[in-house]
Amino acid sequence: MDGLIIEQSAAGVHKKGAEILRHVVRERSVRGETTAIALSGGSTPLGMYRLLAREPYRSELPWNDVHLFWVDERCVPPDHPASNYGAARRELLDRVALPPSHVPPMAGELAPLAGAVRYGDEIGEFFHMAPPEIPTFDLVFLGVGNDGHTASLFPGQISLDERKKWVIAVKGGNPNVHRLTLTLLVLNQAQKLVFMVSGREKAEIVQRVLQGPRENLPAQLIRPSGETPSWLLDREAARLLNEKRRNGDEHDTFE
Ligand code: 6PG
Repeated sequence: MDGLIIEQSAAGVHKKGAEILRHVVRERSVRGETTAIALSGGSTPLGMYRLLAREPYRSELPWNDVHLFWVDERCVPPDHPASNYGAARRELLDRVALPPSHVPPMAGELAPLAGAVRYGDEIGEFFHMAPPEIPTFDLVFLGVGNDGHTASLFPGQISLDERKKWVIAVKGGNPNVHRLTLTLLVLNQAQKLVFMVSGREKAEIVQRVLQGPRENLPAQLIRPSGETPSWLLDREAARLLNEKRRNGDEHDTFE
C-alpha cells in the first residue's frame, strides 16, 4: 500500500490519522474481528489521541474490539514524563471505554531485557503464536526522528539486523535512554502502516527518506508486506518534496 497524504496542518494530520484508525477498526468490527494497533511514541500522535478521546470517536468506536500495543517505550516508569504509555494514558486511555487488558504497557519499569521478554510474551499471548512466527498488526502508526530513526530503531545500530526477536532493548534517541522497541521483523509484517509526521523541522528528513539516496535509514527500511508505507504529512513537513511527488499523490489512499 503506497500513499502520500498531505494535510494542510498538524490538526489535519491528527484528524486523518483518527479517520484511518476508525476506518480500519469499523471495517474489521463489522466482520466480528478485533483490531490490533501498534502506536508510535513521541509527541506527534498525541493530537490524534486527544481527538479519539472526544466525540464522535469516543462513542462511535467499538473500543471493545480494539487492542492497543506500543511500537516502543522508554525504559522509565509509566508516570515518568518520558513514558509513551503515560502520555497516551493521559490523552486517551483514561478517557475511553478501552478495557485495560486491551492495552498492556511495555514494562518500562523493568530491566530492559526483562521488559523486552515480557512484552514479547504479551504479544505472543494475544496472537497465540511464538517465534519464528511473526505477528501481523492490523495497523501501525510510526513517527520519524530528524536522524531518520523510527520506533526506537536508530541509524547504524545492530537492532536493525534483528531477524528473530519481536521486541528488543536498545539505547539511544532523545532522551538518550534505554528503550524497548518492536523490530523491523514485526513492523514490516504490518497489514497497514502509516507514518504520521508534522512540522517544518521534519521537512528535511522527510525529503531525505522519501526522495534521497537509499542510505538504509531506519525509516527507509520500513516496507510493510514489501510495499511502501503511507506517509501522512502536513504541508510543513512535505514542503521540500518535489512538486510532482507532492501534487501527483495528494489524494486520500484510504477510501
Ligand atoms: C519515541 C518514538 C520516536 C518518535 C520520533 C518522532 O519514543 O521517541 O517512538 O520514534 O516517533 O522520534 O517523535 P515526535 O513525534 O515527537 O517528533
